[in-house]
Amino acid sequence: MTVKSYIAEAPSNIAFLKYWGKLDHKNQWPSNNSLSMTLNKCHTRTSSIILDDGCEFEIYLDQKKIVGNHFYKKVIAYLTFLKQKYHFKPYLRVKTTNNFPTASGVASSASGFAALTLSALAAWTDSESLLELKEKGFSLDVLSGLSRLGSGSSCRSFYGGYVVWEKGEAHDKQKTKSIMSQKDWDLADTVVILSNEKKHLSSTDAHKRVFSSPLFAPRLALLQERQRAFEKSLSFCDIKSLGPLMEQEALDIHSVIMTAEEPFSYLKKETLDFLVWLRNLRQASGFQAYFTIDAGSNVHVITESKDQKEFLTYLRKDYPTVDFIEDAVGSGPTLVCETL
Ligand code: DP6
Repeated sequence: MTVKSYIAEAPSNIAFLKYWGKLDHKNQWPSNNSLSMTLNKCHTRTSSIILDDGCEFEIYLDQKKIVGNHFYKKVIAYLTFLKQKYHFKPYLRVKTTNNFPTASGVASSASGFAALTLSALAAWTDSESLLELKEKGFSLDVLSGLSRLGSGSSCRSFYGGYVVWEKGEAHDKQKTKSIMSQKDWDLADTVVILSNEKKHLSSTDAHKRVFSSPLFAPRLALLQERQRAFEKSLSFCDIKSLGPLMEQEALDIHSVIMTAEEPFSYLKKETLDFLVWLRNLRQASGFQAYFTIDAGSNVHVITESKDQKEFLTYLRKDYPTVDFIEDAVGSGPTLVCETL
């Protein structure tokens, strides 16, 4: 009997306007709209095959069989939810690997859940392409909505270019869509790995804590305006206005978590020193490079792609031993099927 492997590759994404806080945890309803850039290189590759009767889910991470840890439990809970929702009978063997280090500050749950959703549903519905999945009722919109239930930010990884996740008026009115393609503006993201320390507070836990910060309500009050400003900068491909907005937004979410009732800081000394270095570089030479930081201590430096090489020369000169990932805006997920 032929065995088919359904292989999905889903990109990570970096949020310019960040998802920070949930109105409803069960339904993954965020407190605010967010806006991200889909990455080109950093991705998760996940394959699924259908198992014979009598087998249970098998999960592999980086070729190693995983049982019992937090990652395993999260994946199993999500696959069980999908299996029950759609009355799929067989269990799956799922193998997943990221092409970037987990502690790099690149969101592995975003690309991870997007790839898992695609690959598992392709296997269960015997779909060999995204088109076939769509014909069977699993359009990108449907897949993105399911994946969001596994990890919120993953819903943005189904679309290329620049993506908005709208919270809508109710949890079942959420919408995710690309507002500009990668061809419209070629931005680069250099991920500078300043610390390999694993973060001590997961983003899922941070989403719970942010409500206790006195800065959280004022933040929410200005986000509609900030989103409009982001969209305007993007539509004009104007890095000089996009950059300061992006930095303000990043510092805003970090200020919120640093002032929560149980405060936490993702920003390490190395991170803060780097931010000063980057701002000095900009002030001294007018070089257009701006930072954003997710729930970690590593920094994403956003430049226009034509300027990325020049940025790397500055980086190598002052940070000769630092690790970094050179990435850029990308086009979204892929799905193929191989016969084993
Ligand atoms: C700071 O998507 O990781 O990266 O929905 O609980 O899995 P869960 O949270 P997650 O949160 C990401 C937070 C962020 C900002 C963003 O990507 O918008």
